[in-house]
Amino acid sequence: MVSVVRPAEPADAAAIARVHVWSWRTTYRGLLPDEFLASLSEDFYEERWRRTLGDASNRVYVAETSLGVVGYASGGRERAGEDGFSGELYAIYMLEEAQGHGHGHRLVRAVVDGLLELGLLDMIVWVLRENAPARRFYEKLGGVYVREQPITIGSSLLTEVSYGWRSLDDLHF
Ligand SMILES: CC(C)(COP(=O)(O)OP(=O)(O)OC[C@H]1O[C@@H](n2cnc3c(N)ncnc32)[C@H](O)[C@@H]1OP(=O)(O)O)[C@@H](O)C(=O)NCCC(=O)NCCS
Repeated sequence: MVSVVRPAEPADAAAIARVHVWSWRTTYRGLLPDEFLASLSEDFYEERWRRTLGDASNRVYVAETSLGVVGYASGGRERAGEDGFSGELYAIYMLEEAQGHGHGHRLVRAVVDGLLELGLLDMIVWVLRENAPARRFYEKLGGVYVREQPITIGSSLLTEVSYGWRSLDDLHF
C-alpha cells in the first residue's frame, strides 16, 4: 500500500483527532478506565489539534495511506526543564491496524528532522510504564532509560518513564 509521511496541515486536524482518540482507546484499554476512554471526544481534540497545528513552534507529521491519515507524531522544544534535554517527541500514535508497517519509524525520522530545523540536537520521550510495546519501540531506536515519575490521566494515577537520546545521531532506525 502506498504511504507517505508529510508535515501536517491545519486541514488535518479532524483526521489527527480521529487517530488520537481511536489509538488511545486501543492502546490504553485495560490501563485507563473504559468510561474514560469512551468519553474521549473527537470534536474536543480536533479543536485542540487545530490550535497545535497553528503554532509554528510545534512539528507535526502524519502518515497517510489510501485509507487516509493512519498515524501522526509531534515534537518540539522539551517542555518540563528536564536536565540535558532540549528536544522532545511529544506524541506518536498509529491506528491499531496500521501498526508494524514502518510508519512509526518514518514518523520518528520526520520529527528528528523537525527538531534539527528548530536547532534542537537531542530528544526525550515520555511513555506510560505499562505500555510495553511502545517502550520496546523506543529501546530498539536506541533510547536510553532516563527516569520515572507519577502522572495523572483523568482520575487515574499512573507512572510514566522517559527515554532519551543525548544526540539525535544516537537514533538507530
Ligand atoms: C509504538 C508505535 C508508535 C510504533 O509505530 P509502528 O508504525 O507500529 O512501528 P514500525 O512499524 O515503524 O516499527 C515496528 C516494527 O515493525 C518493523 N517494520 C518496519 N517496517 C516494516 C514494514 N514495512 N512492514 C512490516 N514491519 C515493518 C520495524 O522494523 C519494527 O520492528 P522491530 O520492532 O523488530 O524493530 C505504534 O505501534 C503505536 O501507535 N502504538 C500505539 C500507541 C502508542 O503506544 N504510542 C506511544 C505512546 S508514548
